[in-house]
Amino acid sequence: MKNIILTGFMGTGKSSVGKRLAHELNVRFVDTDELIEKRGGMGINEIFAQFGEEHFRQLESAVIEELPLSAGMVISTGGGAIVNQSNLEMLKRKGIIICLTASVDAILSRIGNGDERPLLAKGDSREVVSGLLKLREPFYKKADFIIDTTAKGIKEVVNEILKIVGSKQ
Ligand code: S3P
Repeated sequence: MKNIILTGFMGTGKSSVGKRLAHELNVRFVDTDELIEKRGGMGINEIFAQFGEEHFRQLESAVIEELPLSAGMVISTGGGAIVNQSNLEMLKRKGIIICLTASVDAILSRIGNGDERPLLAKGDSREVVSGLLKLREPFYKKADFIIDTTAKGIKEVVNEILKIVGSKQ
């Protein structure tokens, strides 16, 4: 089985959908943000605060490079991962990329106060989210499949993914 790679903006459901999907398929779930934290020896917020975003992006690329090929896992990546062309190419080789999207309102209500998301500390959350979404849209479109999770529950999204991978693997 190919890896199933979930990407998309913060708050689109990558982690919750990824965990449920991995459970349904009885395979391992890996979150690249967790791998980055292990590698960096600290939380994402601390990495950003102490070393800056550039350092975080280097760790992110290193972790993506080390992901195994076709290990049959569900992998969730951070929301900025596929904005980098080389990350995108590595991920395309390593699995089927499914991008989750959601409306700005849904994203804002899911991320709450955004305490664990350093990029949101850069200003008014709605403005930051709208601005980043606009910038990232062309990159998210490069995924193999796109699922809008705005009005959907976790199970519904998982079922859509199961349908997609059922026809692909
Ligand atoms: C980021 C999203 C975060 C995390 C980091 C940067 C981004 O992951 O990787 O804070 O650039 O959108 P989630 O999308 O899992 O919140």
